[in-house]
Amino acid sequence: MSTALITGASGGIGAVYARHLAARGHDLVLVARSTEKLEALASELRAAHAVAVEIITADLTVSADLSRVEQRLRVGTPVDLLVNNAGAALLGSFSDADPDKMEQVLSLNVTAPTRLASAAVGAMVARGTGAIINIGSVVSLMPAYFPGIYAATKAYILTLSQGLAAEFGPKGVYVQAVLPAATRTDIWAKAGADIDQIPNVMEVDDLVTAALVGFDRREPVTIPPLADAGLWDALENARAIFPSGLGGAPAERYRAPASA
Ligand SMILES: NC(=O)c1ccc[n+]([C@@H]2O[C@H](COP(=O)([O-])OP(=O)(O)OC[C@H]3O[C@@H](n4cnc5c(N)ncnc54)[C@H](OP(=O)(O)O)[C@@H]3O)[C@@H](O)[C@H]2O)c1
Repeated sequence: MSTALITGASGGIGAVYARHLAARGHDLVLVARSTEKLEALASELRAAHAVAVEIITADLTVSADLSRVEQRLRVGTPVDLLVNNAGAALLGSFSDADPDKMEQVLSLNVTAPTRLASAAVGAMVARGTGAIINIGSVVSLMPAYFPGIYAATKAYILTLSQGLAAEFGPKGVYVQAVLPAATRTDIWAKAGADIDQIPNVMEVDDLVTAALVGFDRREPVTIPPLADAGLWDALENARAIFPSGLGGAPAERYRAPASA
């Protein structure tokens, strides 16, 4: 069976991906900062599913740690599936946000998944097969309802995923963006929010089970709580009518009036 590398595997959505992928027979490489939690999960999965599980303790916002994970993607047992899951939320107004915290979130939510996808995709293309799952968020589609930079980091993930799918799909690499809505994990408490105040929270196992249905169908974008799939299709179709050959002259409405 193939090997999957999952970031943010010590808890929340990543740990549930690890359980599902181990149950499917994948060997695993689990990445997060908490060695203790990774080791406990690795022992559980080796015993339950007889799969090989490596762990890498890494803070993905620290350049040397990120490099070790990139290195693992480039050498060693080939990694056929990368799950770019580790992420953090930053709540509150952009004007109140601590610039250092914003940089941390950009580093974790944007730079790390970009560098890891970059490290993984070359070997996948060379083998003519592989998959990358990027965990985005529905808030990327509704930035007006989610102040601050978190929605923007997830919009980057969606656009990155769609770009990678266009570039590498024809070369055998499947790229899926998963857009969860509020899901019952510790991310909210870590960001200072009370999850009990949020309506319509999805359970993590439901989220991952649904996301893997989308994965098995090779959907480019999977939005587990979206009942009407036609809404996403309408959004994509609207984008597709945009002309691809823009350039050259400014549009008529932007031309300065001729001076008298
Ligand atoms: N839960 C939701 O409502 C929701 C909704 C939409 C999207 N998402 C996205 O889903 C993904 C997973 O979130 P979650 O809800 O499962 O969050 P979570 O419960 O807080 O888990 C986050 C995981 O990322 C790891 N992590 C955090 N900072 C890290 C760092 N600097 N370096 C390495 N690993 C780090 C954590 O482990 P350590 O602390 O051990 O490092 C943990 O394993 C994120 O990308 C999030 O934005 C979540």
